This record gives sequence, structure tokens and C-alpha cells, in this order.
Amino acid sequence: MKAVQVTEYGDSSNLEVVDAEMPEPGEGEVRIEVKAAGINFADIMQRRGHYHGGPEPPYIAGLEVAGVIDAVGNGVGREVGDEVTSMVGIGGYAEYVLGDARSLLDVPEGLSFEEAAGFPVQFLTAHNCLHEWGGLEEGDSVLVHAAAGGVGTAAVQIAREAGAEVFGTASTQEKLDAAAELGCDHPINYEEEDFVERVQAETDYGVDLVLDGIGGDTTERSLDALKEFGRMVSYGAASGTPGRPPTNELLFGNKEVVGYHLGRAAARKPMKVMGAVPELTEMLSDGTLEVQVGHTFALEDAAEAHEFIESRKSQGKVVLVP
Ligand SMILES: NC(=O)c1ccc[n+]([C@@H]2O[C@H](COP(=O)([O-])OP(=O)(O)OC[C@H]3O[C@@H](n4cnc5c(N)ncnc54)[C@H](OP(=O)(O)O)[C@@H]3O)[C@@H](O)[C@H]2O)c1
Repeated sequence: MKAVQVTEYGDSSNLEVVDAEMPEPGEGEVRIEVKAAGINFADIMQRRGHYHGGPEPPYIAGLEVAGVIDAVGNGVGREVGDEVTSMVGIGGYAEYVLGDARSLLDVPEGLSFEEAAGFPVQFLTAHNCLHEWGGLEEGDSVLVHAAAGGVGTAAVQIAREAGAEVFGTASTQEKLDAAAELGCDHPINYEEEDFVERVQAETDYGVDLVLDGIGGDTTERSLDALKEFGRMVSYGAASGTPGRPPTNELLFGNKEVVGYHLGRAAARKPMKVMGAVPELTEMLSDGTLEVQVGHTFALEDAAEAHEFIESRKSQGKVVLVP
């Protein structure tokens, strides 16, 4: 079968299309015929070798897929033909991949496979960071960085549905228009204006919650946009540098910073993470929430797709189709 392998750590030229062995499901596993593989920023960090505890090359990239079960191992309560999404860990950039039967989610009714491939990682992350980790309440204000990105577009919509006032940053007007369309009340072009000044000007001493998937200077600056007793959820470092929140600002401002990692949290606190699945499935099925599939690439063009995301050209979810 065709697959995309990371040959060694480095840039996107290290993604190679290979002829891989067809995987056979073992106990508790299913084999999924991949109809769409979701690309996540984590795939890029792993490929660069910058992902804490990430896989070692050579490995087939891709942690999230949507597709059809085409073979089942022993002890699996699933049928051949079931349409599922799965956070497979690695191996998703391929025509077939094995999935742990416990990790499977049904494709929400009415969603295409491309849309379904944008559901588990980004919508669970957004929901968890806003609610289970962030404690968002109706009427709260929230600042979402990269508001037109994969997690960002999910977070803007989920925050909107929770009755929050949504501030969002992005680097271009086109991205800000897309975020505004989804319910971002205060779109901020951080290339043209200072996001802290804008938040301060439009709130009483800052927002209640910040979602920070950027790291670097954005982390420290975001604390200045956070009100006293506010909370920041740190869930990524798209800038390439981890954030370093100054503790004096935390203690004098009674501010809280909390970390979030979907995979690790799902393994240790599955109920806390996965409890949002029924609600998200329903809201995606009835159209309250929409997966924003911004770009689709052929599986063979995975390197191009990675470059597209790394150069900040992407909006919403980027998907590979075998
Ligand atoms: N902790 C978890 O479990 C978890 C789960 C999912 C995702 N994440 C993290 O969440 C973040 C967003 O992930 P995503 O897949 O949804 O990606 P994404 O937001 O679709 O893409 C990344 C966006 O980050 C912004 N950005 C800022 N500085 C950047 C830089 N130096 N290089 C590239 N992009 C930069 C860009 O938006 P602008 O052009 O608008 O600035 C870019 O479009 C990532 O840090 C990812 O690792 C974490």
C-alpha cells in the first residue's frame, strides 16, 4: 500500500512516498481504509524532531484519519464497513492503517470523510481547552490565537455556542474575515496592531481566558491581556519556541496557567477528555458546528501540504486524500 514516511528528522523533503506492507489487525484492533487523513501541527513538530516523546524515523506519519473499517481483529465490537474516525497515533498518511478499537469514533451524520478527519483532534482540543481545562462560562471573554487555524476555527465556534465574547488573532485580513464569519467578535490582525492594547481597550482589564497554541513571546504577552483571576491554557508552540510565563506576573495577578495535551490526557483521564464527544458529534451532525476544511491535498503531496501549513498559508483543517 502507498504511505508517506518520515525518513529522518528535518524539513518536508524528508517526507517520502513509499510502498509499505499492508498492516494486519491484531487483538483489539481494526484496519481502516483511509478515506482522508487529517494533518495536525503535531505531525510537523514530530517530523522536525521537536515533539516531546515523538516517534523516531523511519515511521509513517499521521495521527488522525477518517475511513471505513475493512478488517477486524479478535475482541472488537465493530463491523467491517463501519465509517469511523480515529486518533491512530502514527501511520495515518497511508491507504490503510490500524486503529485501536477503543479509539474509534463514529463519523458524525452528514459529514464527509474530509470533514470527519478534522473532528477528533482539533474539536476535542478546542472543547477541552475552553471548557474542561479552561472553565469557560457564559458571558466570559476569551482570546483565541490563530483563530483561523484548525483548533482556532473549532474554538471560535465552540466559544460562540457557549455564549462567550470571542477575541481572535490572525496574520491576514482573509483569515480574520473567516474567523469573524464563525463568530469571532473582535478579530485582531497582530501584524498590524498590538493585540494586548486592543484587548485592554475593549475589556475591563483583560479577558477571562486565553487559548495559547503559539508559545514564544505570545505566551508572556498574552498574560498582559488576561484579567486578574484569569486562566491561560497552554496547548502548543506553533512559533517553534515554548512559552515562559513569568511567575511574578502570575502571583501578583492571581493568574493561572494550565497545560493541556490531548493524547496524554486521553490516556490518563479519558472521561474528562472524551466526555465532550456526544455533544460535539450532535453539534457537528446538526450543523451547529462545522469542520472548516480549508485545503485538501493528494496523499503523495504531503510534503507540499506540510509546507503550506508551515508558511502560515492554511486556514481551517488541511486534509490528505489517498
Ligand atoms: N496539546 C494538544 O493536545 C494539541 C492538540 C492539537 C493541536 N495542538 C497545537 O495547537 C496549535 C494549532 O494546531 P493546528 O493543527 O490547529 O494548526 P493551525 O492553527 O491550523 O496552524 C498553525 C497556525 O499558527 C499560527 N502561527 C503563529 N506562528 C507560527 C509559526 N512560526 N509557524 C507556523 N504557524 C504559526 C499561524 O496562524 P496565523 O497566520 O494566523 O498566525 C498558523 O496558521 C499547534 O501549536 C499544535 O501543536 C495541540
